Amino acid sequence: MRQVADDGLSQILGDLYPYTKTTQTYRRVPEEPVDRAAILSEIAGMAHAEDDRGDKGTVSGSLYCGDHDHYRFLGEVFSLFSHANVLQRDMYPSATKFEGEIVAMTSDLLHGTGVGVVTSGGSESLITSLYSYREYARKTRGVARPNVVMPVTAHVALDKGAHWMGIEVRHAPLTDAYVADVAAMEGLIDDQTIALVGSAANYAHGLIDPIEEIAALARSRGIGLHVDGCLGGWLLPWVERLGYDVPLWDFRVPGVTSISADTHKYGYALKGSSVLLYRDKDLRKGQYFAYPDWPGGLYVSPGFAGSRSGGIIASTWAAMLATGESGYLAAADGIMRTAVTIRDGIRASIPELEVIGDPTFLVAFKAADDLDIYLVNDALMAQGWRMNPLQLPPGLHFCITRPNTAPGVAEAFLETLRGAVGYARQHYGEPAQSGAVYGFSGTPQGNAMVKAVMVGLLDAMHEVAPDAPAS
Ligand SMILES: Cc1ncc(COP(=O)(O)O)c(C=O)c1O
Repeated sequence: MRQVADDGLSQILGDLYPYTKTTQTYRRVPEEPVDRAAILSEIAGMAHAEDDRGDKGTVSGSLYCGDHDHYRFLGEVFSLFSHANVLQRDMYPSATKFEGEIVAMTSDLLHGTGVGVVTSGGSESLITSLYSYREYARKTRGVARPNVVMPVTAHVALDKGAHWMGIEVRHAPLTDAYVADVAAMEGLIDDQTIALVGSAANYAHGLIDPIEEIAALARSRGIGLHVDGCLGGWLLPWVERLGYDVPLWDFRVPGVTSISADTHKYGYALKGSSVLLYRDKDLRKGQYFAYPDWPGGLYVSPGFAGSRSGGIIASTWAAMLATGESGYLAAADGIMRTAVTIRDGIRASIPELEVIGDPTFLVAFKAADDLDIYLVNDALMAQGWRMNPLQLPPGLHFCITRPNTAPGVAEAFLETLRGAVGYARQHYGEPAQSGAVYGFSGTPQGNAMVKAVMVGLLDAMHEVAPDAPAS
């Protein structure tokens, strides 16, 4: 077992250090400053090479915008405030304007009440919401053994946050349509439940849970409902305005008490920003920290972070202004046309694959019983396509973003996918490269092995390459 774990790890590690041979490895601060031009030229080389793949439009998710003029503009805005610490509002009152208006614009989009905070990303928004619900339940109901009820497809950052905060997670199964089974959720609620969670849309299959039903359940039990709109929050409102069928999921639904919506995804902001909205201020108060007794002075902070760069707040605000309603609508239009072409193309012409549920902008699919979807992925990868692998059940998803909307990309993908299915047919029974690690999960022993590989990977990600030449 250990050997398998080590083999799996060394296979993954092989891809982790591509620059060992082409760049110097620093194990200590260089004695003399390195020339700025040399630094820039070296990292520009890495950046351009790494962007190249995403810019071709063959990557699922990951890059949401892909417009380098937009990035350059945001970079310029960022640089004006990159050094500014927005904790010090007397020095940087502009941060209050930017942050307040980011919250206001997001709230307007999602029919909120204007109450929210800006965080560093989806995970921080989700984990912070859990914290707020835990605090609220403790104060108002004396909940001491908190649990949260959510479908198995709710984002794993919630499991991480619950793990850190001693909150029990109660996972509900999915219906045949792959969305939250509300009756099962109901069965998991007890007097220690701090909140319910649903997604719009979830990461795995891009599906929107029946938020109206979950919200009605939450209201009937007197608890809150967080809707994870990290992925869809900045896209679905435009998709709805374009006339697509999007079920209600935002603050128009009574019972939805908080929503996370990532500006650094379909808001087309730089990485490192998300918005967490609350229906009312009482719930938000749970995450505030004010400490008047510290020798270092009066300390107040809205969330997890202490010092924060003004660059990310300013550039997020600028991304919203520079895109505008018409820009967001045009982007959503391209994304939906591409997603529909791919969804319908799979349904119409690849009978070996099944589209999971009824998706909007993210198309997940699985294979018939006599086909290994990870072999399909191997063949796609060999031709430069990067999908997101899924498990339970095995599948792949293509999260459509702006780089994928270029003319011909959807058709080229369908063509390659048909070929990849042919490859998987021919090689059925052979071990798939891209499924190597997934193949071991599902049993306690197998899961322990996969965990060992994953933890080894995290260690490796924080170290220099073991075989790098001495500096
Ligand atoms: C539905 C959903 N929620 C939360 C997250 C977590 O966001 P982040 O990676 O910004 O922490 C993601 C990321 O893809 C997501 O798709």
